[in-house]
Amino acid sequence: MKNPVYWVVLAGISIAFIQQGLPVRSQGESQSDNKQMDNITIRQGETLFLSCSQGDFVTHTAWLNRSSILYAGEDKWSVDPRVSLVTLNQDEFTIKIEDVDLTDEGQYICAVQTSSRPRTTSVHIIVQVPPKILNLSKDLVVNEGSNVILMCLANGKPEPAIGWSMLSPSDDSLSSDSEILEIPFISRNRAGVYECTAANEIAVDTQTVELTVNYPPSVSDGRDVGVTLGQRGVLQCEADAVPDADFEWYRDDRRIFNGFYGIEIEDAGAFSKLTFFNVSEADYGNYTCVAINKLGKHNKNFVDVEIIEPTSSTLLQVETASVLEMTSSDFAQTAFENNDLLEGPGAVQDGNSGTSTVFTPTCLLLIILLQLLLKF
Ligand SMILES: *[C@@H]1O[C@H](CO)[C@@H](O)[C@H](O)[C@H]1NC(C)=O
Ligand SMILES: *[C@@H]1O[C@H](CO)[C@@H](O)[C@H](O)[C@H]1NC(C)=O
Ligand SMILES: *[C@@H]1O[C@H](CO)[C@@H](O)[C@H](O)[C@H]1NC(C)=O
Ligand SMILES: *[C@@H]1O[C@H](CO)[C@@H](O)[C@H](O)[C@H]1NC(C)=O
Ligand SMILES: *[C@@H]1O[C@H](CO)[C@@H](O)[C@H](O)[C@H]1NC(C)=O
Repeated sequence: MKNPVYWVVLAGISIAFIQQGLPVRSQGESQSDNKQMDNITIRQGETLFLSCSQGDFVTHTAWLNRSSILYAGEDKWSVDPRVSLVTLNQDEFTIKIEDVDLTDEGQYICAVQTSSRPRTTSVHIIVQVPPKILNLSKDLVVNEGSNVILMCLANGKPEPAIGWSMLSPSDDSLSSDSEILEIPFISRNRAGVYECTAANEIAVDTQTVELTVNYPPSVSDGRDVGVTLGQRGVLQCEADAVPDADFEWYRDDRRIFNGFYGIEIEDAGAFSKLTFFNVSEADYGNYTCVAINKLGKHNKNFVDVEIIEPTSSTLLQVETASVLEMTSSDFAQTAFENNDLLEGPGAVQDGNSGTSTVFTPTCLLLIILLQLLLKF
């Protein structure tokens, strides 16, 4: 159709115009008109339409990306499949660029040659990118007292603002307006789900990190518990620990296992339950519950066993379990202050006199013989 050499020359003219800083002039004042349109802001992935007006006596027209011609009239020069012609007529010349990316950002020029003079219209394309969190701390399991650093890196355009907050349990005091959240000497109540937020003016990206704080068991004291002679009797032990504690039961110095005659031991999460199917005189003794996890052990008094005479009302009683309540601060205190925290059940097991000091704070279940009471 047209002589390609001419087009190269036209492109050259256009580039020269850009390099001169594209002076804005009103039409008709000079030999050529160079117009700067308002910037176009578009999001990554969207379709960009570039349109310029034509008018009468147009002999040649082209759309350029920086120095390269995308379309010269209806001839496509660009090899990019995302670029295509939309409209070319007497009024307008419109092309589109699909799936816009960051590399498409920059100056685009529409060059129009009329019988009298050349005219260019340039437009600056700004591509915005929604924020994306690229690098986030993994879910963490730490021991109480550790220093924890959570990190969150994100990109986006404009540059996103990054922040951390504690999502559950929600705690406003634990937040940060930076990529890094530092929690020095972490305590158990700082365990939970943390959220990183990266936000710019077009979108928000969020991701969460779960933080688990391990701490040694503390066995809580229970309320008075009664076991009734000739009935089912239950001793219940509750340990606050992360990870969950394993339990061991001792009668005096001897370990009791599930399946021992007349006894069942059941563990469920934070609880362990020792059941006597039929409380008898032979069950008289001191009982100890030991809670163990990889950070330590704890055994202490948790119930006072009260003897209940088998009256008509207690005969209806099915089982008695202690309801154990303790505030978390109590747990924290006992966990840190109790010196026998790290003593093993071995201390309970060996029968020498030295163990009595360990026994004092250990759990003692005294099942008093009904027989003795009946003597009075
Ligand atoms: C268009 O964008 C460029 C580059 O970001 C900037 O320098 C210029 O000031 C903007 N012009 C307008 C009119 O916003
Ligand atoms: C525009 O030019 C830049 C730089 O050469 C290139 O990376 C980009 O892909 C081009 N975009 C289009 C739509 O031609
Ligand atoms: C994430 O950050 C860590 C620590 O700075 C670095 O070792 C790792 O290469 C980063 N990963 C990515 C995908 O950027
Ligand atoms: C409990 O043991 C006593 C004495 O061995 C017996 O008389 C009683 O029937 C038993 N009760 C139950 C519910 O098994
Ligand atoms: C239970 O322990 C206490 C304190 O160590 C002790 O005085 C008592 O004799 C023990 N009772 C039995 C039945 O072993």
